[in-house]
Amino acid sequence: MVSKQWLAAALAVQSCAAAVSKARDDGEMCKKTTVAILGGGMAGVAAAQALSNASMHDFVIIEYQDQLGGRVHHTDFGKKPNGDPYTVELGANWIQGLGSPGGPENPVWTFSKKWGLNNTYSNYSSILTYNETGYTDYSSILDEYEDKYNTAAEQAGIILKENYQDMTVRSGLSLAGWKPKRDDMTAQAVEWWEWDWEDAYSPEQCSLVFGTAGSNLTFNQFSDENNYVWDQRGYSRIITSEASTFLTKDDPRVHLNTRVTNISYTDSGVTIHSSDGSCVSAAYAIVTFSLGVLQSDAVTFAPALPDWKQTAIAKFSMGTYTKIFLQFNETFWPHDTQYFLYASPTTRGYYPVWQSLSAPGFIPESNIIFVTVVADQAYRVERQSDEQTKTEVLAVLREMFPNATVPEPTAFMYPRWSTSPWAYGSYSNWPAATTLEMHENFRANVGRVWFAGEATSAQYFGFLHGAWFEGQNAGEQILGLLRDECANIMSTADDCGDLRHYEKLYGSSPLADYTVFDGWEVSSFYSSS
Ligand SMILES: Cc1cc2nc3c(=O)[nH]c(=O)nc-3n(C[C@H](O)[C@H](O)[C@H](O)COP(=O)(O)OP(=O)(O)OC[C@H]3O[C@@H](n4cnc5c(N)ncnc54)[C@H](O)[C@@H]3O)c2cc1C
Ligand SMILES: *[C@@H]1O[C@H](CO)[C@@H](O)[C@H](O)[C@H]1NC(C)=O
Ligand SMILES: *[C@@H]1O[C@H](CO)[C@@H](O)[C@H](O)[C@H]1NC(C)=O
Ligand SMILES: *[C@@H]1O[C@H](CO)[C@@H](O)[C@H](O)[C@H]1NC(C)=O
Ligand SMILES: *[C@@H]1O[C@H](CO)[C@@H](O)[C@H](O)[C@H]1NC(C)=O
Ligand SMILES: *[C@@H]1O[C@H](CO)[C@@H](O)[C@H](O)[C@H]1NC(C)=O
Ligand SMILES: *[C@@H]1O[C@H](CO)[C@@H](O)[C@H](O)[C@H]1NC(C)=O
Ligand SMILES: *[C@@H]1O[C@H](CO)[C@@H](O)[C@H](O)[C@H]1NC(C)=O
Ligand SMILES: *[C@@H]1O[C@H](CO)[C@@H](O)[C@H](O)[C@H]1NC(C)=O
Repeated sequence: MVSKQWLAAALAVQSCAAAVSKARDDGEMCKKTTVAILGGGMAGVAAAQALSNASMHDFVIIEYQDQLGGRVHHTDFGKKPNGDPYTVELGANWIQGLGSPGGPENPVWTFSKKWGLNNTYSNYSSILTYNETGYTDYSSILDEYEDKYNTAAEQAGIILKENYQDMTVRSGLSLAGWKPKRDDMTAQAVEWWEWDWEDAYSPEQCSLVFGTAGSNLTFNQFSDENNYVWDQRGYSRIITSEASTFLTKDDPRVHLNTRVTNISYTDSGVTIHSSDGSCVSAAYAIVTFSLGVLQSDAVTFAPALPDWKQTAIAKFSMGTYTKIFLQFNETFWPHDTQYFLYASPTTRGYYPVWQSLSAPGFIPESNIIFVTVVADQAYRVERQSDEQTKTEVLAVLREMFPNATVPEPTAFMYPRWSTSPWAYGSYSNWPAATTLEMHENFRANVGRVWFAGEATSAQYFGFLHGAWFEGQNAGEQILGLLRDECANIMSTADDCGDLRHYEKLYGSSPLADYTVFDGWEVSSFYSSS
């Protein structure tokens, strides 16, 4: 509940912000606001809701696309029996970790129940294994990997607790006894399904400590279930529905189809310029652009971001996860199975994981199947034409199902995440030997410019719920600053509420005082011994 006192403070904030804008705008006619939220994905909407919840209504959301939702993004695809198109998700697709009785619940799961989103349990045991000769059962290797992975995750817990040196997931798996030969393509396919498919990078490219901790924090905390969203209104419905609880239809505070090009900031405020020549001046800005957008220099900062910030942006990595959709005139693959794993005889990660939307509980009459590629294979596929990719995937299907007649698909499409100018990739990843201090620098504000999104979450990077928590947090931090600033007009933002950052990095440091993992029992791993 909002107290009367806080309402008064919020009103004071608005006049205080107006004064700030007037002082800095050099005669330029910019729209004035207190908080400019840059990007209308999950993090941006959460930030705006946090402000609204505290009766702080003086904000704008500036969004590149023609809709809210960001990387939760669907498209029309193929045809239903009645001729209408189906909806398929090009971006986020699962609710990852639901909730356990009496335990904490993933907010995305809460929203999906609240807004009646159609979704189905993803059964990772409903899988058949293939190679270039067709069906061949190597499912026992899945269990073997899982045993070794659990050992590696336990070791990672010790490294974390004792503050030992991090290593790659490859090293961790190897020490746990998982040592697939480079030419053992079935083991390579299993490893891809177990690791690369989730992280969008190979075990060589990932941090053992933060990769396994991240998985723990989602799947041990909420639940180990992943539910696949197939709602025909699109997964983004939960974001637009939440937004509709505090934004009006055509809310003038939401600037769609607006590409931010330049963010200039001073001690007293932030001015945001967009490609259409419009500008907004604000007391604070929250940048929710993806790590890929930040790394691409698609948006310039004036002055340039400090070295510690630029270094942090460069240190994390942006993965690409590309789903290639096919619709056929019939389901020629097994009807009751959700997943089909293909081991290419020559190339690791070559069209490995196939998912059937025709499976029971999904959209049985759809005859839709899709295959996912990541990293180098995703960059390659995204560079080439639809026709070239279609030829390759049909050849793989014909190897997997030698006794079926594999016809031409009736519909075919896939997105190009690696080059989409509003995302430049799919979701972030934590490279090996990248410390929490480095991540704190990535997350920290630079004066009045705040950063929030999937990638700023140390616990839930890569996940939609990470974006939610981070947007909420940035909104709340700024509310705190506004309250202090306007309660005591003499104070400046510099000395209240800044997130910690490090001008210089000295490798790892004791984990005892990190608060980012607080609130869950895993925090015991982070207290010094
Ligand atoms: C292929 C794929 C699969 C995924 N699968 C899952 C999954 O199954 N489960 C899961 O939990 N998560 C998944 N994710 C991750 C999830 O989608 C993200 O974590 C989440 O949507 C990120 O939200 P965000 O608000 O941080 O960023 P975004 O959604 O990227 O929001 C930022 C917004 O900024 C806008 N923007 C960018 N540049 C500019 C500019 N210059 N000017 C104005 N606006 C700009 C963008 O259009 C965007 O709307 C997946 C993502 C992808 C791409
Ligand atoms: C806003 O308040 C509602 C109702 O209490 C709550 O469900 C929601 O999570 C809050 N949003 C944020 C971003 O804190
Ligand atoms: C998952 O699939 C396996 C293999 O088909 C099956 O034995 C199991 O019962 C399924 N689990 C659920 C929860 O449906
Ligand atoms: C992950 O969870 C397992 C099982 O609870 C635990 O043994 C391990 O220490 C955890 N590892 C990390 C890095 O959090
Ligand atoms: C949700 O699922 C039900 C039951 O299968 C179906 O009748 C309905 O059309 C679905 N709605 C959407 C929006 O996907
Ligand atoms: C960004 O804006 C600042 C302040 O208006 C200006 O000095 C700078 O030249 C701009 N940079 C770009 C790349 O437009
Ligand atoms: C594919 O599986 C078949 C049947 O099990 C086997 O004979 C063949 O050697 C396998 N191919 C490779 C590259 O391992
Ligand atoms: C394909 O048909 C042949 C001949 O009938 C049979 O021997 C083989 O097992 C079948 N292969 C598959 C993958 O069903
Ligand atoms: C699908 O198309 C193929 C190739 O044209 C054809 O052989 C097959 O009979 C069709 N299946 C159905 C169910 O119409």
